[in-house]
Parts: sequence; C-alpha cells; structure tokens
Amino acid sequence: MKVTVVGAGAVGASCAEYIAMKNFASEVVLVDIKEGYAEGKAMDLMQCASLNGFDTKITGSTSDYSKTAGSDIAVITSGIPRKPGMTREELIGINAGIVKSVSESLLKESPNVIIIVVSNPMDTMTYLVHKTTGLPMNRIIGMGGALDSARFRYRLSEAMDCPASDVKGMVIAAHSDKGMLPLTRLAVRNGVPASKFISEDRLNQVAEDTKVGGATLTGLLGTSAWYAPGAAVSTIVQAIACDQKKMIPCSTMLSGQYGESDICMGVPVILGRNGIEKIVEIDLNEAEKAKFAESAEAVRKVNATL
Ligand code: NAI
Repeated sequence: MKVTVVGAGAVGASCAEYIAMKNFASEVVLVDIKEGYAEGKAMDLMQCASLNGFDTKITGSTSDYSKTAGSDIAVITSGIPRKPGMTREELIGINAGIVKSVSESLLKESPNVIIIVVSNPMDTMTYLVHKTTGLPMNRIIGMGGALDSARFRYRLSEAMDCPASDVKGMVIAAHSDKGMLPLTRLAVRNGVPASKFISEDRLNQVAEDTKVGGATLTGLLGTSAWYAPGAAVSTIVQAIACDQKKMIPCSTMLSGQYGESDICMGVPVILGRNGIEKIVEIDLNEAEKAKFAESAEAVRKVNATL
C-alpha cells in the first residue's frame, strides 16, 4: 500500500506520522514545493522508526511527482492554513490553484489513485477536484466530518465527564464554522442518549463549542491545528487501505441524497478498499433538514466563486 501526502507542513507531516505509527502502509511519499522540506520531514520521521517500531518507509520529494507513481491513496494538504480571525472560505483564492494543479499531477502518475482532500475550504476543494479530474465519486473524499466528529466527542466527553471512547457522535454538513451540523439528538454514551446525562442547554453549548473547534485552536495556536487533523486523515487512509468498511462522515459528491445534487457535503459514508462504497442516508428531523439545506446553500455560494 503506497500513500502519497502532498504538503509536508503541519497537517501533512502529522498525518504521515500517524500512518507510519499505525504500521499498515508499506510506503509514504511526502511531497512539498518548498525545496528540501519534504525530504527533511521524511528523514526526521524515518529516524523515529527504530524508536517507535514501525516498518513503513517514508520518503520525501520536492515536487517530483514521478516518486509518487503507483500510489493507491493520495492526501492533499498543500495550501495555506487560516490565521486567527480568518474563515476557511477566505483561503479559496490561493488554495484552488494549488489543489487543481496538485490533483492533475497526482493523477498523471497514479491513474487509479483514491484522493483525500484536506485543504480548505475543504468542501469546495473536494468539488474542485471532481471538476478537475472527472474521477468517479467513490475515489474523491473530503476530510472534515472525521475531525469535527472527534471534536464533538471530545466536547461531549468533557460535558458528561467520561472518556471520549465512551461517546459516539457525528457531525455532518459543511466543514465550516457556521455550516457544520453536530447531531446532538443522536449522540450517545455507550448507547444511552447524551440527553440522559446533560441538559438540552448544555448539549446546545457542546454543539456551539464543536462548531468553533477549529477557530478556538487557531486563536490559541496562531495557526490551524494539526494533531487531530492528521489523526483524522490517517483513520480514513487506514479504513480504505485495510478495507475496514468503517462509517465515517466525509465530504462526498451528492446526487439526490439529503435532497442535494452537484455539491460536496459531509455525510456518513462507508469506507473500504474502493474508497466511498456507500452513502448512508439517515433520517433527519425537520430542523436538521433545514440546517443541512442552509449549509448547502452557503457551500454553493463558495463553489460559485471557483
Ligand atoms: P502548512 O502551511 O503547515 O503546510 C502546507 C504545506 O503545503 C507547506 O509546507 C507548503 O510549502 C505546501 N505547499 C504549498 N503549495 C504547494 C504545492 N503547490 N505543492 C506542494 N506543496 C505545497 O499548513 P497546514 O496547517 O498543514 O494546513 C494545510 C491545509 O489543510 C490548509 O489549507 C488548512 O486550512 C487545511 N486544514 C484542513 C483541515 C480539515 O479538516 N479539512 C484541518 C486542518 C487544516
């Protein structure tokens, strides 16, 4: 299993590290436009192999895509991250050009590759990769819901004073501060509804804290986060590589599901060796349906600026 990660910055390197630590891939190729940067990150990571006990071979390349030839999975993290006070949507101008050229270069060397899009604004970048490459929907996956759901589970565990592993919860719709939809109604602690443990007001607060999860970290760090984003990407890569049939909310091209078409939005999907193997349609209530539609409308406005 060969995995390429384009962008050896904060998220790309963290994702490569988690992939190596989980020890399921034979090879990870890091690519970055900055001279020597990917090579340096790869060497540093490889010097962890004997310490951390992994066998994955990590190499780096400065924009030489021939090194990525025959990749099964490619992750696009290249582009600029947001600074405090910025929205993800404000990154579109620079990131659209980068994501378009990177996806073309990847496909030339790896015609069968499955692409995972991370660069923001992620739902629009995922849509752009569809329009650029024309690949079938199962092979283009946007990473947002996996991270937002992990942040939701963290906030739920804090509120219920229990380990995050006891908690299940999903965030769907757009990967944006205003557009994401944490499904508080379906959140559970070991199968018991979260509403049995905390008040409705507290649950609503958990949802609001989840929505600004990225912005909160950007305020604290001065740039966007990388540990949880890297871990979320590695979970998706592993689900595909190991054909796990795991259900994870991801941004995908909708064609009628959830009442939307010709748009990439976060919904639960089953991930296996073929990428997105099924879109799972859950029954939303009227309020959730209205929020999903509103979120889609905002994504459409950003897509129109491409
Ligand atoms: P970073 O600045 O640390 O790394 C980005 C890397 O991309 C840099 O090393 C840069 O040299 C490289 N790069 C730029 N243009 C390139 C090109 N044409 N080819 C190859 N490499 C190129 O940024 P960070 O923090 O890693 O974030 C990366 C992207 O991921 C940002 O757009 C950020 O907003 C997004 N992000 C998305 C998340 C999600 O949930 N979807 C979560 C966190 C970040």
